[in-house]
Amino acid sequence: MQKFFGIMLTGTATVLLALGSFLASPVVQAGEEDFTPAMCKDKDNPPTEIVAQGYCLVVDRRKGNCMGCHLIQGMSSGNIAPPMVGMKQRFPEKDKLRTQIYDSTKANPDSVMPPYGRHNILSGDEIDKITEYVWTL
Ligand code: HEC
Repeated sequence: MQKFFGIMLTGTATVLLALGSFLASPVVQAGEEDFTPAMCKDKDNPPTEIVAQGYCLVVDRRKGNCMGCHLIQGMSSGNIAPPMVGMKQRFPEKDKLRTQIYDSTKANPDSVMPPYGRHNILSGDEIDKITEYVWTL
């Protein structure tokens, strides 16, 4: 009987341990990499990856400031524009996404979204990087 309870206890402990490590495992979701504004300000070790550079341009208030109008998960953002989710599904052609950012008035002549490329707010290179990041959202 003693031995039987011993086995029962060990069994339960193993199950709990397994469950614990399952619950503790980090949940990584698409488009939710560990990008932080601090990473963008790190002068000694600036982000080299294109997607990370795009993120930095998006959150920079003097550059994209896209979250001023768009909801972006994990950021305090505005909601006067469509939320940035499922971008790859909504823009299967990356070039269409780039055009929207380059010149929003192409799709909507009355758009309140700044035509970043046409008005030289951002360079072509910066728009490329932003497109890469937004496509991951
Ligand atoms: C001043 C507000 C504003 C800012 C800032 C802004 N947008 Fe927009 N954006 C809009 C609005 C409003 C729309 C909805 C379409 C329209 O009215 O032109 C839109 C539409 C879009 C769309 C199309 C979404 C869809 O579902 O069709 C994309 C992509 C987009 N914006 C990307 C960006 C990116 C990237 C930035 C930053 C570089 C940005 N926007 C900054 C207001 C803004």
